[in-house]
Amino acid sequence: MSFALDDVGLTHSNGFTALSGITLSAAQGESIALIGPSGAGKTSLLNTLGTGHLPTAGRMTVLGQPVTASIPAKPLKALRSRIGTVYQATPVPLRQRVVTTVLAGRLGQWPLWKALASLAYPQDIAGAREALERVQLQDKLFARCDQLSGGQLQRVGIARVLYQQAELILADEPVSALDPALALATVQLLVQEAAARRATLVASLHAVDLALSCFSRIVGIRGGRIVFDLPAAQVSEARLQALYAGAPNGSPSSRTQAPEPASVMACR
Ligand SMILES: Nc1ncnc2c1ncn2[C@@H]1O[C@H](COP(=O)(O)OP(=O)(O)OP(=O)(O)O)[C@@H](O)[C@H]1O
Ligand SMILES: [Mg+2]
Repeated sequence: MSFALDDVGLTHSNGFTALSGITLSAAQGESIALIGPSGAGKTSLLNTLGTGHLPTAGRMTVLGQPVTASIPAKPLKALRSRIGTVYQATPVPLRQRVVTTVLAGRLGQWPLWKALASLAYPQDIAGAREALERVQLQDKLFARCDQLSGGQLQRVGIARVLYQQAELILADEPVSALDPALALATVQLLVQEAAARRATLVASLHAVDLALSCFSRIVGIRGGRIVFDLPAAQVSEARLQALYAGAPNGSPSSRTQAPEPASVMACR
């Protein structure tokens, strides 16, 4: 088992409950797409799985490690080094060079001397170049992050996770800034990477067509609760309508009626 959440809740310090009654588990090597309207709790759930937020209710085990509000710092740090996160808003020091950002993927796994040395002088340039090649950014190896476009920066975040070789990959809207063709290729890359290494992948996606074509398991979330957890083939238009009903940007049906190029180029 890669992770297991049993009746997990998350109430923020301001009293707002972002997640309630979340019961969800995944076998090692499984890939799951998380879909749902804006504000549904996708980022909250990914952050909870990644231990950025600790559950305020229920029980959670991630990569064999029980995670509670009182988990000691040492096992928490060890656990985090095994989890790779692609953030919705890239938390990259913008003045940093791309190579340093990619290598930061393994900082938690390296001894302190190597981590510190890597900040001053990159320790594994060949490894960083290889990861960047996979997102077609090898020419940006020594560029500064503030010289990149939003979509390029997003792909640097993905290269960092590829380089990290995490056992659990959490990707929050990993392709939101990419054009449809690149978005498809990048989601395929993440899914293939996870499958090849038997890593578990959980990715939130606003592009429902990408989720349905690239992932076999789809979890729908709304109002901080899981609405469905189904094989992609069983996610009907009616379920999608219900999931997105009343959302500010409407249902995904407009996307279904007028497919973008990404949905034409099916994942499988
Ligand atoms: N730190 C926080 N403190 C209080 N409330 C929060 C916090 N973070 C998120 N929330 C609230 O939790 C709810 C879920 O937010 P979340 O970011 O998980 O949604 P989301 O599904 O990722 O949305 P989007 O698709 O827009 O990224 C929202 O109502 C949000 O305002
Ligand atoms: Mg979000």
